[in-house]
Amino acid sequence: MHPLRALLVVPALVVTAAMLSPADAGAPSSNVKRAGAAGTSDVVSATTADTLRVENKRAVAVGTGGAVASETVGASRAGRAVLKHGGNAIDAAVAMAATLGVDDPFVAGPGGGGFMVIYLADSKKIVTIDGRETCPRRCTPKLFLDKSGNPLDFELARHSGISIGVPGLVAQWAKATRLYGRHSFARNLRPAIRLARRGFAVTQNFHDSTVESLADLQAFSSSRKLFLTPGGKPLPVGTIFRNPDLARTYERLAKYGPSYFYGGPLGSAIAHTAQRPPVAKQAPSDFRVIPGIMTADDVRDYRAKNRRPTHIGYRGLDIFSMAPPSSGGTTVGEALNILSGWPLGSEPRARALFHYLEASRLAFADRGAYVGDSDYVPVPIAGLLSKAFAASRRCLVHGQALLSPVAPGTPYPPYPTSCSTSSTTPSAEREGTSTNHLVAADRWGNVVSYTNTIEQIAGSGITVPGYGFLLNNEMTDFDFAPATPTTYDPNLAAPGKRPRSSMSPTIVLRHGRPWLAVGSPGGSTIITTVLQTLVNRIDFDMSLPRAIAAPRASQRNYGASLVEPAFARAPYATVLKERYGETFDVAEPPYEVIGFVNALEFLKPGLVQAASEPTRLGGGYAMVVHPRR
Ligand code: GLY
Repeated sequence: MHPLRALLVVPALVVTAAMLSPADAGAPSSNVKRAGAAGTSDVVSATTADTLRVENKRAVAVGTGGAVASETVGASRAGRAVLKHGGNAIDAAVAMAATLGVDDPFVAGPGGGGFMVIYLADSKKIVTIDGRETCPRRCTPKLFLDKSGNPLDFELARHSGISIGVPGLVAQWAKATRLYGRHSFARNLRPAIRLARRGFAVTQNFHDSTVESLADLQAFSSSRKLFLTPGGKPLPVGTIFRNPDLARTYERLAKYGPSYFYGGPLGSAIAHTAQRPPVAKQAPSDFRVIPGIMTADDVRDYRAKNRRPTHIGYRGLDIFSMAPPSSGGTTVGEALNILSGWPLGSEPRARALFHYLEASRLAFADRGAYVGDSDYVPVPIAGLLSKAFAASRRCLVHGQALLSPVAPGTPYPPYPTSCSTSSTTPSAEREGTSTNHLVAADRWGNVVSYTNTIEQIAGSGITVPGYGFLLNNEMTDFDFAPATPTTYDPNLAAPGKRPRSSMSPTIVLRHGRPWLAVGSPGGSTIITTVLQTLVNRIDFDMSLPRAIAAPRASQRNYGASLVEPAFARAPYATVLKERYGETFDVAEPPYEVIGFVNALEFLKPGLVQAASEPTRLGGGYAMVVHPRR
């Protein structure tokens, strides 16, 4: 998520500890009351759990006929319009993602990749589409090593051609539309084309994204021309931004289909741009770029893939998410399996949060050791999601925070009956925090949970000249080198391989019907944000808007957990530190918030609550087709 947006847009997180109910301030949740647990009586009721001051009314919408939520008003309007005019949730999701490429171009657009999880009402099935970028065929595990064998400086790698993977979003949009949509691909691009031609007023978020990536945008002539003033400065808030190049790109995609991109002139232009990034004459003399290795054939060979979703049962619910190459489904799933052994809802809040942090710590250890692109490395998905394996990890947690880095366990049958750790050294990781998540549901009951990204804010910083969109730097999601020369690392670059992701688009079924759809941006904090939102909603019985607004903490097998300031200020934080030995890194400006959730909940069949962030980064946009009066 955009760090500077946090600095400039959110003067203070509005939801503070002082505003929280007793449940958030350290008492057990409302589950306790309903369960009639002794000694906890009336600490909180469902009513108080719903009294969160959601200051941003546009962030919650309840109604029928379909619902959407996203980061921008343009994308949410596009999705709602598609739903109103006969499109289904899949059409809406494609239209929203294409529109985000227009009005949130620093985190989205045809130069990126993503993962789509879909509930199909007709067949009552969950399907997923992997639109993750691929490494060109000349990739090797040494892609990000210098001549002496040392990992490259991240900033150099990030804005170099070698960081650009073959974009997957256009293939994914086309596939989703063809297999599951009601409208044509061309029709789903219409709202984005309109917005790109008509233009929109630059928002604070747009401006801040420009500021955040200014050095790279200035250094590439195509990006400079598209996104900056003639003098190379960020566009002021309120300036009308039009993108006729992107409008034309989408129009050609609408006319010729995805082959205009894969195997067509656009694919050649992308490969050429990666090989010869257009460095501006104004770039500093010491601005270095490593040319890329992508060819037009790499682009032509790209395929979006259907993958089996991950699935676990949790507290009687069915939780589906994204399988490798994303680590989202296995890591959220493993952490929930570990948590299922503790009665979180009836524990004092500090103890429940201690369990949340430790489950996440353990699941991240296994993520780092075992998850990569399963087309290239054997990923023990069944083991990582097995209840028996989770039990062998849970039993490591006693009364104190574990010492990180915790070693991974052994997720292969027969699963250990005692506590499981190995002696493997976990790999370091670094993931971008841009990305966006959107949700859509339609009147027929189809649901989409969709996360996509160009990796860092502004991706590689390189715009395809004349085509109006930025290229990703997704290949930097590969590990640059293993933790030690002899450590097995499932996430090293290889020809055609997809880097490990944290994207965790999730759909939860209750009694076999959709109940929740949730996801977030935020690099590896995506996983903890989704996990915490699920725990808030399912175990702590918060309403969905409240589950989203609650202060966040992210434990990813580091010593200290990254926490938002409001989390650090809450009474439970003191207990977590003093009783359980947890330590915190408080997310300070410019990294003040963690994640940006968009979600929806079926309150009853047909009646949906769409919910976005009320305050983080200025809040998101939830909309329904027919608002409930
Ligand atoms: N680039 C962020 C992710 O894939 O998780």
